[in-house]
Amino acid sequence: MGRGVKNWTCEDVIVAPSLLAADFGRVAEETSRAINSGGDWMHLDVMDGHFVDNISFGPAMVETVHATNDVFLDVHLMIERPEHYVPRFVKAGADSITVHVEEEAKHEVAATLEMIREAGVKAGLALNPATPLDAVLPYLGQIDLLLCMTVVPGFGGQAFMEEVLPKVSQAAAWRSERGLAYHIEVDGGVDTRTAVLCRDAGANVLVAGSSTFKAPDMAAAISTIRG
Ligand code: DX5
Ligand code: ZN
Repeated sequence: MGRGVKNWTCEDVIVAPSLLAADFGRVAEETSRAINSGGDWMHLDVMDGHFVDNISFGPAMVETVHATNDVFLDVHLMIERPEHYVPRFVKAGADSITVHVEEEAKHEVAATLEMIREAGVKAGLALNPATPLDAVLPYLGQIDLLLCMTVVPGFGGQAFMEEVLPKVSQAAAWRSERGLAYHIEVDGGVDTRTAVLCRDAGANVLVAGSSTFKAPDMAAAISTIRG
């Protein structure tokens, strides 16, 4: 821990460029470009071809980004048996590790979140657009980050789903009612047009892949997304 220097709170607006949209042949340079353009965290999407219908990368990629750049690494696990792989992502240099609540039938979400925190890493819980927010309710006291997917996970470049925004607002209301401090992150289709909707609903971590890495001016895109 301690990378990305500051102690981020849910009062901060954090822009997290998603490596999935970067040129994989130049990962270190692309990460530096994101940081130099104003990106705060790097979002790393791990996909196993089972939990989602795509395969991206694993701990070796996280380790490469960790070794070549000093930035907070926000690791999003879209995989089955996440608890089995958590130690490897911790070792690779993750600063936060987010698992999906939809996997709760197959693993003990509470135990996985505890395992992440015990390793000194921020614990995140994600939910898909179709999953009701009530699914995360039992775990709110155990998380540092709640990730509301604003697309069906698996691929970058999809259209933002506005119907998820009420969940973001409800998650923000629960946070203040309960005196909690988890970040609220949105992921999927976040761009210079939709970011303001997310911020207004109460999200403070804005993951943005295509809209940053593929922008003609990455710094301008990040600045507009931050608002
Ligand atoms: C989708 C991933 C996202 C993806 C976002 O399954 O979780 O993090 O990289 O990509 P954009 O911003 O292009 O929608
Ligand atoms: Zn993601």
